[in-house]
Amino acid sequence: MRTPFVAGNWKMNPPSVAEAEALASALVAEIDGIDGVTCVVCPPFVALPAVAGALTGSAIGVGAQNAHPETKGAFTGEVPLGMLTGLCGYVIVGHSERRQLFGETDAFITAKVGAVLATGLTPILCVGETLDERDSHRAEAVVRRQVSAALAVVDAGQAGSVVIAYEPVWAIGTGRAATPDIAQEMCAFVRSEAAASLGSNAADAVPVLYGGSVNPGNVDSLAAQPDIDGALVGGASLVAPDFAAIVRAFSST
Ligand code: PGA
Repeated sequence: MRTPFVAGNWKMNPPSVAEAEALASALVAEIDGIDGVTCVVCPPFVALPAVAGALTGSAIGVGAQNAHPETKGAFTGEVPLGMLTGLCGYVIVGHSERRQLFGETDAFITAKVGAVLATGLTPILCVGETLDERDSHRAEAVVRRQVSAALAVVDAGQAGSVVIAYEPVWAIGTGRAATPDIAQEMCAFVRSEAAASLGSNAADAVPVLYGGSVNPGNVDSLAAQPDIDGALVGGASLVAPDFAAIVRAFSST
C-alpha cells in the first residue's frame, strides 16, 4: 500500500515572504487532522525558512522547486542542495516549466535526481508530454524517455525515496485537466516504465501523482483511479481551503 501524496507547487507565488508565511499558517489550520496523506508544500526558495517555521509541529512537509546538481561553484543564480538539507525534505525536479522556459534537458534532470537522492532528500520528478506530442501519438514515447533517463541513476533500494508526477503540459495552468481515463492510463504507464528501470517490486513503492489543473471539483474522479496515488497541485494550492479539499479527497482513497 502506498501512502497518498499531495504536493503544492506554489511556483513564483505568493508575491512576498509575509504572504507565503500567512498561506502556510492558513494551511495548518485547514489541513491538520487530515490523516493518511503525505502533504508537502513547495514555496519559492527565499520563503522556505519562513514557511518551514510556520509549519513546525504540523504534519505538512516542505519542498523546494529546484536545486542545482553541483555542490558549489560558479553557477550564478542557482541554489545548492547543501543549503536545503535541514530546511526541506523534497525537491521538485524536471517540472515542465523548467524544461520549457529554462531549457533543462533530460541529462541535467537526471543529474539533479542523483544529487537530490545523494543529499538524502526526495525528488518529485515531473514528466509529461506537450499537446503537440499527444496529438501526434508520441505521449508514451516522451514519458518513457523522461522516466527512463531520470531513473537511470536510481537504485531499486532508493525507490521508496522517489515520487513521480505525471503532468501533461497541456493541462498545466490551463484549467483543462486530463480526463480521469487519460490520467489513469498515463500514471499506470509511468509505473510500468518505473518497473522497467527498477523492477516491479521497487516500482510498486513509488507514488505516482497526477498534476495539471487539479481542483476541488475534479479531484474526486482523479483520486478514484487505482494508479493515481496523489496530486501535484499548482494554482489550487494557493487557496488554503481548496488545497485542503484536494488533500481530503486522497485521504479517503
Ligand atoms: P496547475 O499546475 O495545478 O496550476 O495546473 C500544476 C503544476 O504545474 O504542477
